[in-house]
Amino acid sequence: MISADIHLHTEHRVGAIDERIFSGFLEHLGRAIYGGVYDPGNPRSDDRGFRLDVVAALRPLRMPAVRYPGGNFVSAYDWRDGIGPPDARPRRPDFAWRTVETNRFGTDEFMQWCDAVGTAPMMAVNLGTGTPADAAALVEYCNLPAGTSYADQRAANGHPEPYGVELWCLGNEVDGPWQAGHVPAARYAEQALVASTLMKGLDPRIKTVACGTSVRTLPTYLEWDRTVLEHCWDSIDFLSVHRYSENRADDTPSFLAEGVVLDEILNDYRGLLTYVKARKRSRHDVLLCFDEWNVWYRAMAKDGGWAQAPPLLEETYNVEDALVCAQYLHAFVRNADIVPIACIAQIVNVIAPIVTRPDGLLLQTTYWPFLMLREGVAGESLRAAVRAPEITTRHGDVPAVDAVATFDAATGTGCVSIVNRSTTDTADVTIRIADRTVTATAATVLHGPPKAANGWDAPDTIAPTAIAVADADGALRLAVPAPAHAVVRFTLAR
Ligand code: AHR
Repeated sequence: MISADIHLHTEHRVGAIDERIFSGFLEHLGRAIYGGVYDPGNPRSDDRGFRLDVVAALRPLRMPAVRYPGGNFVSAYDWRDGIGPPDARPRRPDFAWRTVETNRFGTDEFMQWCDAVGTAPMMAVNLGTGTPADAAALVEYCNLPAGTSYADQRAANGHPEPYGVELWCLGNEVDGPWQAGHVPAARYAEQALVASTLMKGLDPRIKTVACGTSVRTLPTYLEWDRTVLEHCWDSIDFLSVHRYSENRADDTPSFLAEGVVLDEILNDYRGLLTYVKARKRSRHDVLLCFDEWNVWYRAMAKDGGWAQAPPLLEETYNVEDALVCAQYLHAFVRNADIVPIACIAQIVNVIAPIVTRPDGLLLQTTYWPFLMLREGVAGESLRAAVRAPEITTRHGDVPAVDAVATFDAATGTGCVSIVNRSTTDTADVTIRIADRTVTATAATVLHGPPKAANGWDAPDTIAPTAIAVADADGALRLAVPAPAHAVVRFTLAR
């Protein structure tokens, strides 16, 4: 048994939580769309082809936005292929994943699907093989009232009212040599500025996201971002950051220290955003859009062999993966003042918390920390001072307990989310809130052996359960098993 103390004060705040940190990402890749969210003719689908079991599994996650249509896919995609009468849409080879794209699902289907799920579309435009004019044409199609060519096409396709898409990603991972249309930072920055200017010229209400670094090990890390930010600062609203975590070395203690690495990365970006804003003497802010994050290192085959919707990137997630996912969300909460948007990549079948087969749906371990945090986190992020013994990892000595806290003054409720990184010792955790009397209202825990996973034969092996919390002299105490993720929800009185 180890002991950990979490000290809070409701006046010690990081900033308001933007619920868009609980957003998702859906790409034309493998079985994410076809056989995932869209499966016409399947008895589990509605008459539009939307899998209703997938909609039902996504709804409790209340994702404020879902990014679409890629990912690498978008960098060679012509959005015009995916509109109009389905039978007239072209079958195309998809450069990114070497598959056949039927285009049966496109922009309009995505908009209807977002309505069904209760989320908002976050569109990415092609700045790989596409031009700023193509990107602006998509804004016209989606957001302008009927009366011009593309807006009229939308109306003719059955949608007279504009969709009012607010968030727009200016390409995808253009810093990566694998990307269609990969160019040096200065060239991308020029294209991104032209695209953002044209797009905002058509609809000034939109917000744009420029591509930042996609992989921290690229030699252009931060230098790419600096170049893009300095060129585009006043025209863009967000800089995109991506990260996928891995445990190839099967070094669980180091893998479970991932939250420390995430804080380092966000700290790098905090410095960069401050630097560029100061250099430009700007009053405008650019914040981070962490629009791809997850664990991904096992299902790496990227060649679909020119098949139609073959299984690709289908990872099976275990308990240690779920604990890393919890730490991604912790990092976003802890850095709430610079991370208003984040998208788990992805949502169905492709590196996803939800898996389908024609006759069923499975929730992976990684579904649960997302849900547990989604249900608890609201209001403001509080600075959590955590005292815990340290674990030696390849990232240095890291605290055995990672924790974040939030408090919603409007409702008088809050939560503390805790990851016990130890694989051997239960953590006896005490939570103290210096300026208030605290009462726990509910607490759940997700735990199991690090490699335990859910499967079709045993779908409920890993799922959250209730955990006891004791009131002890104005503090809360709970025993968090090793390793585990726990969320305690509480009310505060003065
Ligand atoms: O999410 C899978 C892929 O990972 C995306 O297409 C790409 O943006 C990233 O490299």
